[in-house]
Amino acid sequence: MANFRRFRPDDLNKFSKCNLDPLTETYELGFYMQYYAKWPALFQVAEDQHGNIIGYIMGKLESSPDAFRFSEHYLPWHAHITAVTVAPEARRLGIGRLLTEKLEEAADAADAWFVDLFVRVSNTRAINFYKSMGYSVYRVVKDYYGEHATDPTKSSEDAYDMRKPMKRDVKREHVREDGEKHEVQPTDVW
Ligand SMILES: CC(C)(COP(=O)(O)OP(=O)(O)OC[C@H]1O[C@@H](n2cnc3c(N)ncnc32)[C@H](O)[C@@H]1OP(=O)(O)O)[C@@H](O)C(=O)NCCC(=O)NCCS
Repeated sequence: MANFRRFRPDDLNKFSKCNLDPLTETYELGFYMQYYAKWPALFQVAEDQHGNIIGYIMGKLESSPDAFRFSEHYLPWHAHITAVTVAPEARRLGIGRLLTEKLEEAADAADAWFVDLFVRVSNTRAINFYKSMGYSVYRVVKDYYGEHATDPTKSSEDAYDMRKPMKRDVKREHVREDGEKHEVQPTDVW
């Protein structure tokens, strides 16, 4: 049985079951605290009966800077999933889905047009997960994951920018059927 609630700062000491996963990025403490302070409703955790964090989702609300209002890449008011992870032993139990639904509720409450996220094109597990929840590819960001810049033995990897329209987007104006065909550069993504 998992308990779902908002993130609290002392949860940072209990993230190891999730963050040992290689696809789960570990950030500096201040980064988590910024999300907690600014968007507490979009930072949700699942804990087990021992108080371990076995899943969490962390997101923010934003739009592109006003200076880019007339750019084709301008992003209107939306929620962004910065991280979602479930401990390996707790996967395929619906925890990721419930966490994402909680973030989507907060996105609807904030009148966001859509929820979006970036995912490695090789991360088929996460892509299947997002697709099962109604997300689709909006565009491909070339070389978004640029590990080659710091480690020459590694190559870069493209990201899918995936989206799900929220209640505000009644006409589904902010999603595309053929997103895989729309390639952009990392400099087009703010
Ligand atoms: C992606 C992740 C968060 C999914 O969490 P989860 O709790 O296992 O997902 P759920 O149990 O809620 O799955 C919901 C649905 O997603 C799909 N899904 C989830 N995992 C899947 C897998 N390994 N293969 C295929 N489909 C999958 C299924 O349709 C599933 O429904 P079902 O179990 O009834 O068939 C988890 O695998 C994870 O933490 N991965 C590592 C971190 C990561 O990649 N995060 C995303 C970075 S962008």
